[in-house]
This record gives sequence, C-alpha cells and structure tokens, in this order.
Amino acid sequence: MKKILVTRNLLPENEKRVLDLFNATLNKEDKVLSPEEVISLSKDCDGILCVGGNKFDKEIISKLSSSVKIIANYAVGYNNVDVDAAEERGIAVTNTPEVLTDATADISILLLLGASRRAYEGRKHAEAQSWNWSTNFLMGKQMSNKKLGILGMGRIGRAVAQRARGFGMEIHYHNRNKLSSDLELGAIYHKDAKSLFVESEFLSINCPATAETTNLLNEETIKFLPDKAVVANAARGDIIDDRAMIQAMKSGKIFALGLDVYNGEPRINKEYLKLDNLFLLPHLGSSTKRTRIDMGDRAIDNLEVFFLGKKPKDQVN
Ligand code: DGY
Repeated sequence: MKKILVTRNLLPENEKRVLDLFNATLNKEDKVLSPEEVISLSKDCDGILCVGGNKFDKEIISKLSSSVKIIANYAVGYNNVDVDAAEERGIAVTNTPEVLTDATADISILLLLGASRRAYEGRKHAEAQSWNWSTNFLMGKQMSNKKLGILGMGRIGRAVAQRARGFGMEIHYHNRNKLSSDLELGAIYHKDAKSLFVESEFLSINCPATAETTNLLNEETIKFLPDKAVVANAARGDIIDDRAMIQAMKSGKIFALGLDVYNGEPRINKEYLKLDNLFLLPHLGSSTKRTRIDMGDRAIDNLEVFFLGKKPKDQVN
C-alpha cells in the first residue's frame, strides 16, 4: 500500500476512501501544518494530498523526502506549489478542475450582487433595527443589462457568463486566447486586459494567479474601468493591488468590491475593513458538500492513477 500524508481533514466520504486505498497519515486535529511539519510528516511518504493553504515553494520542495513523488492539490488553483521546482525533483503535481466550477461561479455572482446591492451595509442597518425606509435608502447599482467584464474565461469564467446572461448582461472577456464561438456564445473578446477594463461596468476576476496576473488590477489599470465600476474577485488575492484598490474605493472610482480571496489570507488589509462598500466572504468559493466531496474524489483519483504508473489527467507539470 502506498503511503500518503493528508494535510487537512477530508469529508468522511473521502476519508473512508483514502483509508481504504492508502496507508494514510491524517491530520486529525485539522490544524494548519507548518512547512516543517509537512516535511517531517511526509518523510517516508510516496505522496501528499494537500490543500491550497499549504505552500510548497522551491525551498520546501527541496527539503521533501525523495520518496515523495506526487503532490495532489485539493483545489483547482495551484499557485501554492512551485510546479517547476516540483518537476525538477521529479514530483508530479495535480489539481481538481471542473468539479468546483458551478460552486465558484455562484460565489462570483454572489460577490457581484452583494457588492453592487450593498449587502454589508444592508445587514448592518437591518441588525440595528433603526432604519427608516425611504426612496433613496441604500441605493445600489443594478446588474441587469449592464456590461460584465470577465478576466479569465476558463471553465469558471464561462459559468459566470452563463449565469450573467440571465441578468441580460453583455459579456466581455480577456483571456490568453480567444475562445471558439461555441464556448464564447456571443461574448466579446479583448486581447488586452486594459481594453476589457474600459468596457467593464461590472468586473469578475476568474483567472489563475500567475506572474502575469499578479497585481493586474493596480493604480494604472484601475483607471481604465468606467467610473463607479463594481469588481468581484473569486480567484486569488494576488490579482488585486490592495493599496490601489482601497484608494479607488475611497475616491468612488470603484462603487463597490466583493472579495472571497485575499493577499496573505486569512489576513486582510486592515484599510479594507474601514470601508462600507465592501462585501466579504472567507474563501467560500468551493464550499458546498457536493463540491468538496467531488474535489476529494478527484484528488484521490489522481493519486490512484499515478500510483498505477499512469499520468493523472489533472497533472499540471
Ligand atoms: C480552488 O480550488 O482553487 C479554490 O480556491 C479552493 O476553494
């Protein structure tokens, strides 16, 4: 039986399968393991099933036991793993695409709606029970028939587009490559992110975090957005330059922001917390039972296939 380290608790359905298939070291307390703990607990393991919160940079990868041959990430995003460093050491890296597309697209729409319809301020007023209905009370910005820019038109971006069409939105997108017309479904391609921003009354960030997308929304590029734009980020915190965004939210350039992901999460730039035009969630993108079971199964499938000597379909290096 192959030996694996599972860095966080899995749902019982997944845990049972892991224990049936592998000699697995579990993290019963479900605490966030430090890199040193991951290195020492995986000492004689053949693989690691980890979550996005576990960082595997070049240095950590260089300290992993030579017995470790696969890192199966329980997430679609794998910016927590230095894929090239893993490849140099002969370690396969896999992710869990497809299974969390719908759940994450739902959260993108929730962020857009929560931000644009002032859900955070609304909750505060409702809780205080002192609000007084009036014709101009907490007026939001309506999504219907507006232009939606989607940064990153992969599976999740396309699922956001599908939902946004229900609001009558005109879909624009920027992607490394233009999609075929059966995937575009009428969405308008922008080769350049700035040209997308110019059209984006609403902007949904759904691209992976890479060297090219880090701080893509910054002091210079935010200026390209229409005044009073609404922005939602369900991808990764690194894509927004927080200082520039906070400034734009204070000035009114950005009407409201919805965030599910943060730079250095779970920490959050304290200046954000002083702002009312912010709708926040604690990285809930894939957090439904069905999705989390499917993510676990996908990571386990990847380990199983790899240990059978085949290339897992989700191998990213
Ligand atoms: C992912 O899969 O990348 C999500 O952010 C995890 O919730």
